Amino acid sequence: MIYTRISGTGSYLPGEPVGNAALIAAHGLDSSDEWIVERTGIRSRHLAAAGVTSSDLALEASRHALQAAGRTAADVDLIIVATSTPDYVFPSAAALLQSKLGNINGAAAFDVQAVCSGFVYGLTIADKFIRSGSHKCALVVGAEVFSRILDWKDRGTCVLFGDGAGAVVLEASDQPGLLSSAFHADGSHHGILSVPGQLCGGVVTGDPFLRMDGQAVFKFAVKVLADVANEVLGAAGMTAAQVDWLIPHQANVRIMQATAKRLHIAPENCIVTVGHHGNTSAASIPLALDESVRAGRIQRGQHLLLEGVGGGFTWGATLLKF
Ligand code: UT7
Repeated sequence: MIYTRISGTGSYLPGEPVGNAALIAAHGLDSSDEWIVERTGIRSRHLAAAGVTSSDLALEASRHALQAAGRTAADVDLIIVATSTPDYVFPSAAALLQSKLGNINGAAAFDVQAVCSGFVYGLTIADKFIRSGSHKCALVVGAEVFSRILDWKDRGTCVLFGDGAGAVVLEASDQPGLLSSAFHADGSHHGILSVPGQLCGGVVTGDPFLRMDGQAVFKFAVKVLADVANEVLGAAGMTAAQVDWLIPHQANVRIMQATAKRLHIAPENCIVTVGHHGNTSAASIPLALDESVRAGRIQRGQHLLLEGVGGGFTWGATLLKF
């Protein structure tokens, strides 16, 4: 029996943290540190310098993950980058990452576009490749430069997001690692969170900025995060009481607390890192995972429940033994 295990984690945040007060001052926003902290839990975020792209951030996170796994780029035969802010329309950020890593073994490389659920989508896809026996060592990365698609005049969205990347190395193993996964979408909700712009004839048409109905997203997120958590727990024959760490998409501390409560998971078993990096979309789950592994909170053998929700709408979860 072939299983998929996480053999290493890594992450990267660009530059210095930008606190709420500094962000408000820089963009002349009608907002306050108190409002942002109370409604979201976010105190600061990192913003990539001009010219720094998702594949640049992915490269740093990937190097850390490969080092932690004791692997080199030459060992990797599958690269999946989850991003909604790729460097180019094409080629994919994954192909650019492959080149930057110096992986010249012809590893398959492609992007997954499932917004904030992208990382769990990527994990689920890579797991299927590895379990099939077709691939043995996958790099799954979430990397975003959401600062590029924010309307800095829209206080309802621009204070929420940040840039960053997180990565894991997944390897074939005879020991259980990933136990169960589920991913879903309901495109009928596309209007509540989107960047409704296009490139057409050399110009941007439509709206190139992130638009969101925050309250609608909030309600939808809490419901589907609880549902999909129960789905993967049921598939693995486990209960929430057996979960050592819940690692939800890091969007808003209130969403995470509400989800943990619905699942009867204690707040202290829910990993929360959004406070110092904001919502980094597809990067948020592997960022939270890596920080907690490096801090010694997450230990080998523990059960982790990773779950994401985002534009599309998309949502998904992965239950694993670390
Ligand atoms: O990755 C998934 C993506 N997104 C999310 O997960 C976000 C989900 N939604 C949320 O996190 C919350 O809905 C927000 C944090 C976006 C907003 O919090 P809320 O408690 O739902 O606030 P609200 O939208 O109901 O707005 C309350 C008030 C409004 O003013 P009025 O109409 O009551 O006068 C807003 O205009 O807060 C105002 N407001 C702000 N005030 C100060 C909105 N943004 C700000 C701001 N600073 N940055």
